[in-house]
Amino acid sequence: MGGSVHTAVATAVLVVIPFLIDQIHGDDNHGMRCCDLFEGRWVFDDSYPLYNSTDCPFIERPFDCQKNGRPDKLYLKYRRQPTSCNLPRFNGRDFLWRFRRKSIMFVGDSLSLNQWQSLTCMLHTTVPHVTYSLARSNSLSTFKFLVYNVTVKFSRKPFLVDIVNETNGRALVLDSIQSGERWKGIDTLIFSTWHWWLHTDRKQPWDFIKLANHTYKDMDRLVAFKRGLRTWAIWVDSNVDPNKTNVFFQGVSPDHDNAKIWGEMNSRGCWRQQRPLFGSIYPGGPHPAEAVVAKVLRKMAYPVLLLNTNNHIVPVEDRWTSFQLWLRRVTRSRLQPLVSCWSY
Ligand SMILES: *[C@@H]1O[C@H](CO)[C@@H](O)[C@H](O)[C@H]1NC(C)=O
Ligand SMILES: *[C@@H]1O[C@H](CO)[C@@H](O)[C@H](O)[C@H]1NC(C)=O
Ligand SMILES: *[C@@H]1O[C@H](CO)[C@@H](O)[C@H](O)[C@H]1NC(C)=O
Ligand SMILES: *[C@@H]1O[C@H](CO)[C@@H](O)[C@H](O)[C@H]1NC(C)=O
Ligand SMILES: *[C@@H]1O[C@H](CO)[C@@H](O)[C@H](O)[C@H]1NC(C)=O
Repeated sequence: MGGSVHTAVATAVLVVIPFLIDQIHGDDNHGMRCCDLFEGRWVFDDSYPLYNSTDCPFIERPFDCQKNGRPDKLYLKYRRQPTSCNLPRFNGRDFLWRFRRKSIMFVGDSLSLNQWQSLTCMLHTTVPHVTYSLARSNSLSTFKFLVYNVTVKFSRKPFLVDIVNETNGRALVLDSIQSGERWKGIDTLIFSTWHWWLHTDRKQPWDFIKLANHTYKDMDRLVAFKRGLRTWAIWVDSNVDPNKTNVFFQGVSPDHDNAKIWGEMNSRGCWRQQRPLFGSIYPGGPHPAEAVVAKVLRKMAYPVLLLNTNNHIVPVEDRWTSFQLWLRRVTRSRLQPLVSCWSY
């Protein structure tokens, strides 16, 4: 987990953004104005954080950076500021009211775990007297606000596709996604997967890869990622009802293991970093995995919304096209746009 744990507070705010969209208002004029919610930067905001880990009784120990002795606090005080509009402040009561009788599920790796943990703490802190229940098992955690009947789940599937025990070892099966059974019927699904595809040696949780009943000792990880993601895309297209469910995909997070990228010659990765990068574009340039995500999502029939926090998920010259593509998909299915537009 390491570095990603530190960003838990801030990143949950990003996932909440789409749910705030219909509260954003533009000027009352003729025509259209749009705001790309992911075009923006981190700003210091002294009214943050949105929750104090001390007030979140169920926070998992690895996420409680303050209790674990992290000396600095300023990292808790940043929020995203879109370039062309302001977002309303997160309001837990309002959120619970909008999501009453609904279910939200984060699926994927530790990025999703971070988001699940942060969202449950943010909500609990705003309604500390509302009864909740929490059930955890190996790969599924279920948090419920009983009065509102809101369920927030986390399903741990770092690859999204299956890992299957076979007699000669553990197979990463690129074209099988049995665990999808658990994701059916949920009202809001938020997926993430990437960095586990890179692990080798002891951190690699499989012994061989299977695809179309062929067995491979290993393969180019970007190719494997693309194939696995396509399996997920086909699953979403054929199993999720766009009239009922919002599907989000969290963009590929930068590896931030090379501090030279942001001009610190003597640092080791994000070790001891105390603040986010302030520019609107990650100085390391686009990651090849981002192009894979963009390519797979564009071929889908389902209007998946990409949580594009890196600002460069598609090559610059391609940006406008994909922006329009999102708009078109959004209009077709009546789902909320990530690019928020309003008449003026
Ligand atoms: C969280 O609350 C505790 C106890 O009230 C307080 O000591 C601490 O400074 C707070 N932390 C932050 C980051 O506000
Ligand atoms: C909670 O919401 C679900 C989904 O709408 C519904 O099936 C269930 O009956 C509700 N439970 C209660 C106690 O209201
Ligand atoms: C696979 O086998 C290992 C040990 O042999 C076990 O711990 C694990 O739970 C098994 N996984 C599945 C998905 O059956
Ligand atoms: C793999 O083999 C099984 C059993 O022989 C068969 O049922 C299945 O259709 C095959 N899958 C693919 C993708 O070829
Ligand atoms: C979604 O709703 C539209 C309009 O009500 C309808 O035409 C379409 O068949 C529905 N799609 C599904 C998958 O139910």
